[in-house]
Amino acid sequence: MHHMDKKKTLQPVKRPRLEAPNSMYNRDGNFNQKPMSVSIRGPIPNGPMHPRPLIALLDGRDCSIEMPILKDVATVAFCDAQSTQEIHEKVLNEAVGALMWHTITLAKEDLEKFKNLRVIVRIGSGYDNVDVKAAGELGIAVCNVPGYGVEEVADSTICLILNLYRRTYWLANMVREGKKVNGPEQLREAAQGSARIRGDTLGIVGLGRVGSAVALRAKAFGFNVIFYDPYLQDGVEKSLGITRVYTLQDLLFQSDCVSLHCNLNEHNHHLINDFTIKQMRPGAFLINTARGGLVDEHALAAALKDSRIRAAALDVHESPLKDCPNLICTPHSAFYSEQSVTELREMAAGEIRRAVVGRIPDSLRNCVNKEYFTSNSVRPPYGFVGYPEGMNGAGYPFPNPAAAAAAAAASGMGVATALDAHQSVPHSAPHSQQPHSTLSESAALHLGKESTDVH
Ligand SMILES: NC(=O)c1ccc[n+]([C@@H]2O[C@H](COP(=O)([O-])OP(=O)(O)OC[C@H]3O[C@@H](n4cnc5c(N)ncnc54)[C@H](O)[C@@H]3O)[C@@H](O)[C@H]2O)c1
Repeated sequence: MHHMDKKKTLQPVKRPRLEAPNSMYNRDGNFNQKPMSVSIRGPIPNGPMHPRPLIALLDGRDCSIEMPILKDVATVAFCDAQSTQEIHEKVLNEAVGALMWHTITLAKEDLEKFKNLRVIVRIGSGYDNVDVKAAGELGIAVCNVPGYGVEEVADSTICLILNLYRRTYWLANMVREGKKVNGPEQLREAAQGSARIRGDTLGIVGLGRVGSAVALRAKAFGFNVIFYDPYLQDGVEKSLGITRVYTLQDLLFQSDCVSLHCNLNEHNHHLINDFTIKQMRPGAFLINTARGGLVDEHALAAALKDSRIRAAALDVHESPLKDCPNLICTPHSAFYSEQSVTELREMAAGEIRRAVVGRIPDSLRNCVNKEYFTSNSVRPPYGFVGYPEGMNGAGYPFPNPAAAAAAAAASGMGVATALDAHQSVPHSAPHSQQPHSTLSESAALHLGKESTDVH
């Protein structure tokens, strides 16, 4: 648990640096094309300052939803990188916030490359691609966006379950490939394996947000729903009207269909493996819309080949299985809908915004490594740019924001303007206090490795 000194006044906080950052602006607010050298003891008093924090989208290009939410408090850059080797030095040196999808992994050694990072927001709910512990030790808060696509993932899961039971996917493919089904005998052959749902037992592994949403839906189809989740207190089963079992073995033994909904952690890699597959009912179904690492895919492939598992559906993959019988694979799309992705990106940008204008971790809604932010942590737990609390009008840390924005405009760089008041901007935000510029619209700055300079 974190022990915060809430009485501390919010000053612009600089964490001690071993390496000097490049500065984007000189003291007059003009953009520096070349990095300035700064003493390794840290910036000299009143010396070059970050005009505004740099927030980088690590693995993607599109910042169109994030920009309106962040542009009045941060400079937004995108890196479009698949590894930290592809990230521009400027981002490694200066970024105080990072947004990331699931196509990049931040292990300890990757996190150590960032010299100024204070917060990472995963644009998604799983955060198994970030070493959260190492981040905490480095004083970097890690946040996720837990709730955005729960319904979509639950609906996709049900869709996959129905496809396994009703064989819709295979039957539709058969028709598309021109197979004619005439008469009851041919139909029996074509639809062989289609099964009745009512009365079957669905075993849910991990009764979190998605698991519970699946449980509620599955009941409507007549499933007898059981679950295994060792981290929950007694009683949830009563709220949902389902049955709890206390070991994975019990769940596998009792279930006709097993659906995985636990987060991937250091204890459950390859939870479904040769050994546990043998504990499943012969001919059971398996669905995984949680994380690829939960299933040993070689063991699953073998079990599908000899029909120990009748059919499986995977939305998430460690190394996608090809040419496996009775397998439906989707491309990690279970969460996707236009609405859920918009909501997700708005929520992620909102969390970064709260880090910028507020305090870390107090102002964050979904910090997953809060426990590291004690008074002894490496990077102090307050707001990193020294915005007045809640930005409630007391001032603005950059001496001349208009000059900064103008300089940015001259350099073609996407910098905050106060043109759009996005709905997620707190009502208390003093728009009159925010920097204005003559930019008509700002675009995110591209800071991929291949970009040799800011443009
Ligand atoms: N496919 C997609 O598009 C997609 C989208 C969002 C989330 N997900 C994944 O879905 C999963 C569930 O997401 P959520 O938001 O419901 O997470 P959640 O944190 O709300 O729930 C996870 C639950 O799993 C339980 N759990 C952890 N380890 C377990 C174990 N070994 N055995 C049984 N239970 C265990 C936890 O106690 C928790 O209740 C996560 O893995 C997440 O990464 C996938």
